[in-house]
Amino acid sequence: MHPMLNIAIGAARSAGNVIVRHIDRIDRLTISTKQTNDFVTEVDHMAEGEIIRLIRRAYPDHAILAEESGRQGDSEFEWVIDPLDGTTNFLHGFPQFAVSIALKHRGRLDQAVVYDPLRQELFTASRGAGATLNDHRIRVTRANGLPGALLGTGFPFRQQQHLDAYLEMFRALFPEAAGIRRAGAAALDLAYVAAGRLDGFWEIGLNEWDTAAGALLVLEAGGMVSDFDNGSDYLETGNVICAGPRLHAAMVAAIRPHRGEELRC
Ligand code: IPD
Ligand code: CA
Ligand code: CA
Repeated sequence: MHPMLNIAIGAARSAGNVIVRHIDRIDRLTISTKQTNDFVTEVDHMAEGEIIRLIRRAYPDHAILAEESGRQGDSEFEWVIDPLDGTTNFLHGFPQFAVSIALKHRGRLDQAVVYDPLRQELFTASRGAGATLNDHRIRVTRANGLPGALLGTGFPFRQQQHLDAYLEMFRALFPEAAGIRRAGAAALDLAYVAAGRLDGFWEIGLNEWDTAAGALLVLEAGGMVSDFDNGSDYLETGNVICAGPRLHAAMVAAIRPHRGEELRC
């Protein structure tokens, strides 16, 4: 295993332990609001602190982009961290949240870990070496179009200016697909596409820490990841479509006409 992936796994497991330890104390947590519908607790901060501590101990010169503490350092290696993806779920005891850690090297996704601490499911990927779930190789599905496909999505609950565009996308996909799920943790949605539990996924306006690890999982599981214009700016724009190659093409064709002026890249 790549040594940097090994460090990421240790950090994700350790952060997962922090999160799980607090599950039966949710009512005693201090909840702050970063913006409308955007919550953060001391668990997010503690989990992030733990990840950064373990990465810094191994690689003190690497740069870090972490959701709660921002960007630190300057290096060709950059760790992109979401310490708790699915905070709203966590706060409600809804069992769908994860730790997401990616490593970029010279701007390219290189290593990825998404860890679901409740189910103890560890999704990993190394560039060029495939993706795994608990050490077993995973692949995207062979869905060749929307009929029969199970899609994941996320709602633009913080950026409601995108609601109309989103609903048009939903309207284009909904009658064709077998089902659409909104589970509330984008990193896990992407990991589920990589593992073939979902055939595809799309969301508007995610942040880099939501998508970086999951995108490498999908790519290494044989899938495609793009922005709404079928380009590669999904980390920057946060507009993501991913699936196996044929379904991906069908999703781009359905979503693209509805992306609106402000979602063009
Ligand atoms: C959120 C989750 C959610 C997605 C949001 C993200 P957070 O992450 O991934 O599924 O719809 O856009 O911000 O805030 O819980 O880390
Ligand atoms: Ca997130
Ligand atoms: Ca988060």
